[in-house]
Amino acid sequence: AKSKLWGGRFEANTSELMEQFNASLPFDINLMEYDIKGSLAHVKMLGKQNILSEAEVEKITEGLNRVKNNLEAELKAGNFDFNEAEDIHSLVEARLTAEIGEIGGKLHTGRSRNDQVAVDLRLYLRDQTEQIMDLTINFMQIILDLAEEHIKTVMPGYTHLQRAQALTFGHHLLAYYFKLKRDYERFQDALKRINVSPLGAGALAGSSFNLDRDFTAKELGFDRACENSMDGVSDRDFVLEFLAVASNLMLHLSRLSEEIILWNSKEFSFIELADQYTTGSSIMPQKKNPDLAELVRGKTGRVIGSLNQLMYTIKGLPLAYNKDLQEDKEGLFDSVKTVKIILELYPEMLKTMTVKEKAMKKAAATGFLNATELADYLAANEIPFRQAHQIVGEAVLFASKKEKELDQLQQQDWDEILGEYLDIDAEELKEKLSVEAAVNSHSTKGGPAFEESKRVINKEKEFLTDK
Ligand code: ARG
Repeated sequence: AKSKLWGGRFEANTSELMEQFNASLPFDINLMEYDIKGSLAHVKMLGKQNILSEAEVEKITEGLNRVKNNLEAELKAGNFDFNEAEDIHSLVEARLTAEIGEIGGKLHTGRSRNDQVAVDLRLYLRDQTEQIMDLTINFMQIILDLAEEHIKTVMPGYTHLQRAQALTFGHHLLAYYFKLKRDYERFQDALKRINVSPLGAGALAGSSFNLDRDFTAKELGFDRACENSMDGVSDRDFVLEFLAVASNLMLHLSRLSEEIILWNSKEFSFIELADQYTTGSSIMPQKKNPDLAELVRGKTGRVIGSLNQLMYTIKGLPLAYNKDLQEDKEGLFDSVKTVKIILELYPEMLKTMTVKEKAMKKAAATGFLNATELADYLAANEIPFRQAHQIVGEAVLFASKKEKELDQLQQQDWDEILGEYLDIDAEELKEKLSVEAAVNSHSTKGGPAFEESKRVINKEKEFLTDK
């Protein structure tokens, strides 16, 4: 049987299958270091408040540190028994008592597993969120560097996946930079609500012991202690919030992945992914598949799934603690693991891919991406834009019938199409309609023009320097 923290009021043993079903140790072992950290703060406070003697505190503290070292060693060596106890809290207390004797049982004075598990999860999530934020910043830096490198690499921009207007690869990458920056800020904001201490909330109604909740909150690096004991043990919206932000981040990476997959196809041929981040086919020898990007797109569903699962779990729960809440962990751990490995791999994939600038430029120069440019030119010459739109539509039809692009039309073509509206200098127009000129004329704030992209990149470099 697994070691438990209860049993006095029971006559029969728990069914073995029930024990298995009830256990959370196989996954909440992830919380081990945080559980011990929380216990160390709790016992220190019990001493300060004269609830435990100095000698007891010393003994328990020393015992907890030994338990931690032993568990770390067993986990590392791979000989840890995941069936040893009901959950991480029972495990640590049983190990402590084995180390220091019955006095170990004093650790749980004025505490419940309900506030304990909430503390553990918050310490864990604070730590993980900070790590994920660092990885996000690193990713943003890589994207910004790539954007700078490709600040002049023209490519087609798309709407409806149809060629729309020319822009640059750098500009396209900057769009993702800002999406990630918002995710970073969302994590930062979520931290404010993660970093609140429920310790001392007890089972649900606080404690009759003279606990100093502000002391343990401070000791554990929390911003403050929560103001309602029932809220403290029943709140999981800090987990939901994290999962919502993580889902949003994954959505961004999923969209980027979809584009990477398209660009890497023969049909686009805008990039070629490096061997290190692609895989082959067991039957088709020529294949080099973008599995990393596909897996990111696929795993996005899993992270969103974890968010949904926890929302469904919490939806009908009365206050305060219910065992349903044990279901808050696996999806969260899985999401944290997924997001972290992706944030490590993805920048490597981007750094090692080959950008086929010629193909991008060729695509940007064909398919009438400069039609809006021409309409704008006419509109700037006093032709109402709606009429200019109609005229340019006809010009596109004219050119496509001749299998030419707009900037390949000759003086006589322009005279024929536009003669009745405007005197055109074919040479001047050809220059205006070139891909580079078109991109650089789009110098509105946040536009793809070289100078504007440069301004934005410099500003963001500054943002990243103090991160
Ligand atoms: N393993 C439990 C969980 O993850 C710990 C809290 C148990 N509390 C209780 N009253 N049974 O939620």
